[in-house]
Amino acid sequence: MCWINRGVVLLLGLVITTAGWSLEWNNGSGEKERALTLKPNYNRGLEYYRICAKCHNKQGWGRRDGSFPQISGQHYNVLIKQLVDMRENNRENPSMQHFVMPEMLGDAQALADLSYYISKLPMTPANGKGRGKNLERGQDLYMEKCIGCHGDNGEGDNEKFFPRIQGQHYRYMLRQFKWIRAGERLNAHPDMQIRIENFTLEDSKAVVDYISRQKPPKEIVAPSRKWRNPDFE
Ligand code: HEC
Ligand code: HEC
Repeated sequence: MCWINRGVVLLLGLVITTAGWSLEWNNGSGEKERALTLKPNYNRGLEYYRICAKCHNKQGWGRRDGSFPQISGQHYNVLIKQLVDMRENNRENPSMQHFVMPEMLGDAQALADLSYYISKLPMTPANGKGRGKNLERGQDLYMEKCIGCHGDNGEGDNEKFFPRIQGQHYRYMLRQFKWIRAGERLNAHPDMQIRIENFTLEDSKAVVDYISRQKPPKEIVAPSRKWRNPDFE
């Protein structure tokens, strides 16, 4: 009977969660894999995106104060992963979770369409940055501790689900960095957490400030900060 099945699934879920689901940073129920096999549709993605624009704005640029991250230009695979993780309580995001749940948004196809649309939006040329102190220290730390995963300039890697962090808002990144360091972001990469566990606040700020100043490739950046998303005209 249906309710028995649900009970079993719930119990299994609980067991898996308490057994350290969070360590398996790139596993899940399989919805991500399903979404990645689908052919995304740009125009449908735009229709889904309208609700997201309320917080991330029409350009997908979020806010320079980091309260809302920039999501435009993020890798397609990374976007799908983040949305699935939020759906599956593997990344806490209380203000947004409601909007990504299947009842609100739709199935794996919706995730594919939406992520495709967002990944094609040009990035802001004027993201939020830090105070510009200790940038050399930040660069040294980046070269030593981050480059292996996030790439030469913070470009990330779509295939490996490593996010693009170049040109992201400083204060958003600092918040994530602190959460990952403290083990408070469930979907964090465990090796990143180990790599940064001894960072002081000064060093955290230095490395995040440095990466916020790295420029994404010109082709994926809007021509000016006045650029407005024509899909919303
Ligand atoms: C009510 C405001 C709100 C709405 C609506 C909203 N978001 Fe968010 N979103 C946020 C906040 C706040 C964060 C950052 C949370 C944090 O600091 O961890 C976020 C984070 C994200 C991230 C993670 C970014 C990263 O770099 O890892 C993605 C992706 C995202 N949102 C996509 C969407 C999509 C797609 C929609 C529409 C279905 C949407 N959001 C709707 C507030 C919102
Ligand atoms: C072992 C690989 C690895 C290393 C080393 C690493 N990261 Fe990460 N980082 C990741 C992955 C993977 C994620 C995204 C995890 C997820 O949510 O799926 C991430 C997430 C982040 C985020 C949050 C991005 C967002 O959009 O929310 C920031 C900021 C970040 N890393 C900065 C750094 C910095 C700075 C360093 C060096 C001090 C570093 N990382 C080292 C793999 C790594």
